[in-house]
Amino acid sequence: MKITDTSDLWWKTAVVYCLDVETFLDSNGDGVGDLQGLGQRIDYLAQLGVTCLWLMPFYPTPDRDDGYDISDFYGIDPRLGTHGDLVEVIRTARDRGMRVIVDLVVNHTSDRHPWFLAAKRSVDSPYRDYYIWRSDAPPKGQKNAVFPGQADGIWEKDEKSGQWYQHSFYEHQPDLNIANPRVRDEIAKVIGFWLQLGISGFRVDAVPFLLEIPEGADIPEPHDLLKDIRRFLQRRSSEAILLGEVNLPYEQQIEYFGGESGDELTMQFDFVGMQALYLSLVRRDPAPLIEALRSRPELGTEVQWANFLRNHDELTLDKLSDAEREEVFEAFAPDERQRVFGRGITRRLPPMLEGDPRRIRMAYSLLFTLPGTPVLFYGEEIGMGENIEIPGRQAVRTPMQWSDDRNGGFSDAAPSRLVAAPPSDGYAPTHVNVATQLEDRGSLLHFVRDLVSRYRISPELGWGAFEVVEQPASSVLVHSLTADVGRFVAVHNFSEVPVETRFRLPDEPDGSALVDLLHAARLPLGPKGVVAFEVPAFGYRWLRVSRPGDGRVT
Ligand code: GLC
Repeated sequence: MKITDTSDLWWKTAVVYCLDVETFLDSNGDGVGDLQGLGQRIDYLAQLGVTCLWLMPFYPTPDRDDGYDISDFYGIDPRLGTHGDLVEVIRTARDRGMRVIVDLVVNHTSDRHPWFLAAKRSVDSPYRDYYIWRSDAPPKGQKNAVFPGQADGIWEKDEKSGQWYQHSFYEHQPDLNIANPRVRDEIAKVIGFWLQLGISGFRVDAVPFLLEIPEGADIPEPHDLLKDIRRFLQRRSSEAILLGEVNLPYEQQIEYFGGESGDELTMQFDFVGMQALYLSLVRRDPAPLIEALRSRPELGTEVQWANFLRNHDELTLDKLSDAEREEVFEAFAPDERQRVFGRGITRRLPPMLEGDPRRIRMAYSLLFTLPGTPVLFYGEEIGMGENIEIPGRQAVRTPMQWSDDRNGGFSDAAPSRLVAAPPSDGYAPTHVNVATQLEDRGSLLHFVRDLVSRYRISPELGWGAFEVVEQPASSVLVHSLTADVGRFVAVHNFSEVPVETRFRLPDEPDGSALVDLLHAARLPLGPKGVVAFEVPAFGYRWLRVSRPGDGRVT
C-alpha cells in the first residue's frame, strides 16, 4: 500500500510524549501539577514537535499506585482540575496539531471504588460479581503478584465475607471480572465517555491481565473481548487507537494485535526490543538488538510497534536471561537502591550512561530510527535524571524541570509541599532545565527537536520494510527502511572506538547518493552502490537514499 494513500493511519508515524499532569506544571501554587499548567505548556510540546500526548491517569484516586488505582472512571482528580480544563487541553493540543490519548486502567479498580465498596458490603450485591472471588483459601505456591516484596500473592481475604478477592497488582487494586457482561458494558461506557470529550484513543494498562479469565467462567475466547472493545472504539471514532501494554514475547504479542486480522490493539510497546537495546548498550555491541529486531514478527499495515527507552515504571529486564540481566544491573544499576522487584532499574537513561552526551545522543538517535513509532517520557528531551532519594518506581516521576528557579520552575509552593522532590545531584534543575537548553543550540533539547523533525519528514521509519545492511564493523549497526517514498539508512556505532564502515546498496540506481539528514553532507554511492566512511565513537548518521531525479526536497 502506498504511504500517501494511508496517511489517515496517523499512529504509524506519530511521536508520542507521555506525561503525568501531576508532575508537569503547577499553575496554582499548591505543589501539584494541574491541567491548567499543562495547558500553558502545549506550545512547548508543539515546538518540540511531538504529535500525540499520552496523559497518565488523572482520575480520582486514593493515590496508592500513582493514580493507577482509580476510584471513579469518569472523574478528574480535583487536585488536577476539572473536565473543563481537560477539554481546553485537548482543544489547544488539537489546534497545534497534537492528539491526546489517555490511560485506560480497567484491569482493576481501587479498593475505594464504589463498586468494590458495594461488592464487599454484601455477597448479594449486584456489584459482587464485578470482581473475582474464591471461597476457599488460595493454595500455597499460588501465582506471584506483579510486585514481589510489596504484595504477597494475588489473593486477599475479605474479612466480612471470609472470601478472597483476586488482585494481580497491589492488594488495594481488586481485579475486575471481565467475564461479567455488565463489567464489559461499563468498560465500553468509559471508553465512549472520554472519546466524546475529544481524545484520540487509549494507552491500555496491563492488557494480558485484563484478559485473564477466572477459572470456570463461561465466556468466549478472551481475545474476542478485546476485539469487541476495538470494534466499539472504532464505531465511536474511526481515528482512535488502542496502545497496549503487553510485556510478553513477540509470538504472544502478535495475538494481541489480533493476528493477521489486526483487529485488537492498534499499537504495542516493544518491551523485548527495548531490553535487548539496553543489553547492546552495555556490551557496546548491536548483536542483541539485531537479534530482537530480526525476530520481530511482521505486522499488518494498520498496526504498529511503539518504541521506547524509558517509561514511568521500572526499566524492566524480565525478558533477559538471568546472566544478561545481571550484566545490565552491574553496568547500569550498581547500587542495590537502583533496582526493584528483582527485575528492573529505577533510573533514567542519562545517569545510566554516566552523563556521556555521545552515548545519550546515540541512544536517542537509535530510538527514533527503530522501525515503528517513538514514545518519549517527559523530561527525556532535556536529559533529566532520577531522584535516587525516592525509593522504587517513584524515583523517575519527579517534576518537570523548566528552569533553574526554585522547584525547577515547576511550582511556587514551598519545597516541602511538592508532589515529588526534584533530584539534588548533578541532575538538579540548576544543571538540567528547559530554559537553559532552549537558549543553547547545542543542547540535548535542540538535538531531540531535530530528531523529531527529521523523523516527521521520514515516513519510511514508521512504514518501511526493515533490513540489516551487512558491513564489517561488529560494533556498528547499519539498517535500512524502505517504503514507496524512498529508503532511509541509519548508522550507529555502539562503541567508544571510531570505526570504518563499508556497505553496499546494490539495488540503487547509478548516480544515487546518501543525503545526511542531521549534518549537511552528501555521500555519492560508488560503483555497485558501495559507500565507506568513518563512524566516530558512539556516532550515528541518518542517511536518505537520493535517487537521480526523485525530486524529494524534504
Ligand atoms: C501498569 C502501569 C503501572 C501500574 C500497573 C498497575 O503496569 O504501567 O504503573 O502500577 O499497571 O495498574
